[in-house]
Amino acid sequence: MARPDLHERIQALRKLRSAQGRIRVRRTVARRDGVRVEVDGRWLTGFCSNDYLGLSQQFEVVAALQDAASREGAGAGASHLISGHHALHEALEREVADWLGYPRGLLFGSGFIANLAVQQALLSEEEDLCVQDRLNHASLLDASRLAGCRLRRYPHLDAEGAMRQFKSAPEGAAMLVTDGVFSMDGDIAPLRSLSLVARMQEAVLYVDDAHGVGVVGPQGRGCAADAGLGVSEVPLQLVTLGKALGGHGAVVVGEETLIQHLAETARPYIYTTAMPPAQAAAALAAVKLARRDDWRREKLTALIGQFRDSARRHGLELMASDTPIQPLLCGDESTVMAMSASLENAGFLVSAIRPPTVPEGKARLRVTLSALHTPQQVMELVDATARARDIVQRQQHVAALRA
Ligand SMILES: Cc1ncc(COP(=O)(O)O)c(C=O)c1O
Repeated sequence: MARPDLHERIQALRKLRSAQGRIRVRRTVARRDGVRVEVDGRWLTGFCSNDYLGLSQQFEVVAALQDAASREGAGAGASHLISGHHALHEALEREVADWLGYPRGLLFGSGFIANLAVQQALLSEEEDLCVQDRLNHASLLDASRLAGCRLRRYPHLDAEGAMRQFKSAPEGAAMLVTDGVFSMDGDIAPLRSLSLVARMQEAVLYVDDAHGVGVVGPQGRGCAADAGLGVSEVPLQLVTLGKALGGHGAVVVGEETLIQHLAETARPYIYTTAMPPAQAAAALAAVKLARRDDWRREKLTALIGQFRDSARRHGLELMASDTPIQPLLCGDESTVMAMSASLENAGFLVSAIRPPTVPEGKARLRVTLSALHTPQQVMELVDATARARDIVQRQQHVAALRA
């Protein structure tokens, strides 16, 4: 017997990634102060955080964390079904469910884990079907693999494409699953059309609104509420606590029977330690602020408008997004890497997003805006991006002449 050597395999894969320029490196943030981050000894203005409402360092949120930690300690000590379920977890679940107008919520350690849990618990038979937008988040696609159900994907935002996928597989219990706001594109799923497809196909519609809740819709209640949909059309939704809410974790809100089933059977829920109660206290404070502070969303809307107008004037390639996720398309990977490096030289941290996270030829700078940015910072970013584009184009031109 000759098994493949795992060490050899991973070395070969790393070599390949290196040849393709796809090695991923982490940037270590030494300190943060609002949208400013200290990286490698330099303070940069960050435009790649998902802290859209600026709540992660907000005074009341941090005070709630400190206060609860001083009383309850650093950890929950056990899983929810053993003895780790704390009154602060319960209060957070109720607050999020009430905000979105759902009967019940269930708290998870992260959005990734919550997505695994939902499909694993609901699509348990081999013939079950999960129909998903082609650009859904990786955790939603992986979840279908974990569940062992059939996965069918439809072209981005194409409700008719979703219908065709259902018709091609008419047996088995089914879910229709979509991001609310798409994480790498910033556009929004056509939820009204998708809810009709789900109803006609007797499928449960699950909306992962990781990037929508807090930002989109009335009182920041997310994409479904913005489309006038509630629990009867969207029986399950994911709310993450690590993006607009500035903390960590996630709450799945939904119909009572679905949530109860998740709490009693979802393996990623049952077999893991509950979130530290202090973290739940911070998230609870953040949710209250997100519900109340319309001014944060109004400020974001103004910054998004300013960014788009100004990027258009400079001839930068925008995508069709009205949300704080404002990707600038660069095309190939070397261009986006060079643009990101040039922006860093100019004092801005903007992440380059490359395949396989996005399709080939669609590499982009994923600019994200926060209510903490100032109009001045946005203006300076756009100016610096236009200059970076000109520098990179010139360098590429010279290199092509030399070749
Ligand atoms: C659409 C979407 N769903 C789920 C997740 C995972 O959430 P979390 O970061 O809480 O694990 C993300 C985060 O990147 C996301 O963008």
